[in-house]
Amino acid sequence: MLQFSRRADSHKVPAALSEILEQTLDLAANDYDLKKKYDFRSIEILRDFAPDVPLIPVVVSELEQVLLNLLENAAHAMQENPPDRPPRLTLRIWKEAGYGVLEVEDNGPGLDEASRRRIFEPFFTTKGPGLGTGLGLSVSYVIITQNHKGLLEVDSAPNQGARFTIRLPLDEGNSRD
Ligand SMILES: Nc1ncnc2c1ncn2[C@@H]1O[C@H](COP(=O)(O)OP(=O)(O)OP(=O)(O)O)[C@@H](O)[C@H]1O
Ligand SMILES: [Mg+2]
Repeated sequence: MLQFSRRADSHKVPAALSEILEQTLDLAANDYDLKKKYDFRSIEILRDFAPDVPLIPVVVSELEQVLLNLLENAAHAMQENPPDRPPRLTLRIWKEAGYGVLEVEDNGPGLDEASRRRIFEPFFTTKGPGLGTGLGLSVSYVIITQNHKGLLEVDSAPNQGARFTIRLPLDEGNSRD
């Protein structure tokens, strides 16, 4: 049974990145546990979605898991923003040679060099006990780079916010299924 459900769960289907991102935003805004911690409605959300991005083969539940962690991390980080810098997320989707690209950028405190280098390591967290396991980004890294043969990168500097970029191959020929 376990194997059957794993196989079913890891099935790739052609999907619109914008739809998955919107679904995940809904999930984040309505998830009861998240709602207790962050008010997603108080975050301004800018969308910059290119119209020409084709459907891309993804495991929908896995991509949602990655995006939910990025949104949760950003919301958590932006809680530190001073009053004159209201929390703002910029979401971008576009197509480039061979890849569909999805970007989540926040205007939070960003990361220093040392944290940036360790951010994808399992158990790296700056959150207090009970607030984070430090697994979100390491699991995301495996999902994007191994399961989807894509790329996951971070751009950040202290007080410059953080930007996470996901590249997913357009070509199904590279997929694991
Ligand atoms: N957008 C961001 N801005 C600033 N720091 C970030 C951001 N995203 C992640 N980080 C840093 O990276 C660490 C690791 O993130 P990751 O998602 O892997 O784990 P976590 O959020 O701490 O715990 P979990 O995801 O398991 O709940 C965070 O604790 C935080 O210090
Ligand atoms: Mg996290």
